Amino acid sequence: KVVAVIMVGGPTKGTRFRPLSFNTPKPLFPLAGQPMIHHPISACKKIPNLAQIFLIGFYEERDFALYVSSISNELKVPVRYLKEDKPHGSAGGLYYFRNLIMEELPSHIFLLNCDVCCNFPLPEMLVAHRRYGGMGTLLVIKVSAESANQFGELVADPVTKELLHYTEKPETFVSDLINCGVYVFTPEIFSAIQDVSLDREDRATLPHFSSFEALQLATRSLPTDFVRLDQDILSPLAGKKKLYTYETMDFWEQIKTPAMSLKCSALYLDQFRHTTAHLLASGDGTKNATIVGDVYIHPSAKVHSTAKIGPNVSISANVRVAAGARLISCIILDDVEIKENAVVMHAIVGWKSSIGKWSRVQAEGDYNSKLGITILGEAVTVEDEIVVINSIVLPNKTLNVSVQEEIIL
Ligand code: GDD
Repeated sequence: KVVAVIMVGGPTKGTRFRPLSFNTPKPLFPLAGQPMIHHPISACKKIPNLAQIFLIGFYEERDFALYVSSISNELKVPVRYLKEDKPHGSAGGLYYFRNLIMEELPSHIFLLNCDVCCNFPLPEMLVAHRRYGGMGTLLVIKVSAESANQFGELVADPVTKELLHYTEKPETFVSDLINCGVYVFTPEIFSAIQDVSLDREDRATLPHFSSFEALQLATRSLPTDFVRLDQDILSPLAGKKKLYTYETMDFWEQIKTPAMSLKCSALYLDQFRHTTAHLLASGDGTKNATIVGDVYIHPSAKVHSTAKIGPNVSISANVRVAAGARLISCIILDDVEIKENAVVMHAIVGWKSSIGKWSRVQAEGDYNSKLGITILGEAVTVEDEIVVINSIVLPNKTLNVSVQEEIIL
């Protein structure tokens, strides 16, 4: 049997995702109309002999209750949310629930970060992992040398694929091969994590500092049960014939900011075209709106037949889009109203917001710059004939003048 664990983190972790993380946990934010974690969860369905999926985090249980029960029914695989009493780090969280995870005596454990967007080649990783015969296999990808330092950089043996060297977010360039945050482990991972915390306990009680004083000070300040997968496990075990790599040639992105969620929504919509095309809107019927490229429209949304939507648009539940509206590259969250002839382009429009007639909410669509997309928080009202460009508007604001390059607090 195999189990999968998705690390969802908690409310203190999603700060770069503001203002969208104010009222929805980041892992439940919709990408291509489905909660962020829905994409890795449905990829898990392809793992042979999958017994259970666990979500581990420190969000309140009730935040996930509804989603967990509906997805369990849909996939016919039990999905459980396990709440940590406090953050234990990416490996500590796994270790904290080791008894529950090992209940069905799985031979392998998949571990996935919730905030990555890729096609999760999990069955392929498992095959490679079995062939390598190590304790763990990491999904890795080549990125540009300039962007590599935002991730764990690593060196792998070109022939055996063994992980030879690993440095988390290094200050000086090591390698353009990076850690994707998707792993498969044998249960030996639990003893590796235990060794780290036992070692910490020993250090904390040692009377004298030995040679590596600085290192000790750094580790001493962490609680013994707080273990990071990257720094505390991957770095020390690199080059010990325990860890191997599986390189993906497909798409991969990390979702730390709202702008990246818009980019990832596009990637998942494109993937739907190949996997679950029925989820995409089509403009075939005569009374339907004009659809351009990949678009998701929730069945409860009402879109006027003269509106033009797409590409990369995702429209959530109970949204109303009036006559003549034009939507390009945007995520429209639940209960939004977009009035006649409004234009929304490179933007995320928060729950219950309303955009007035002939208004424009737009940006130039640079996913890497802070104001590269426009974001309206929850319940923002943009009055008629107002233009909002490259701006972030916090919840509950009413805009009756046009703004550009501003953060409206
Ligand atoms: N349950 C739980 N408890 N989850 C946690 C905790 C915790 O205490 N701390 C982090 N996580 C989750 C996050 O939600 C995320 O899904 C994952 O663990 C990794 O988060 P971080 O430890 O903050 O690392 P990161 O996202 O900055 O970088 C990691 O992922 C990159 C790929 O996206 C590193 O492993 C990098 O090397 C890697 O490139």
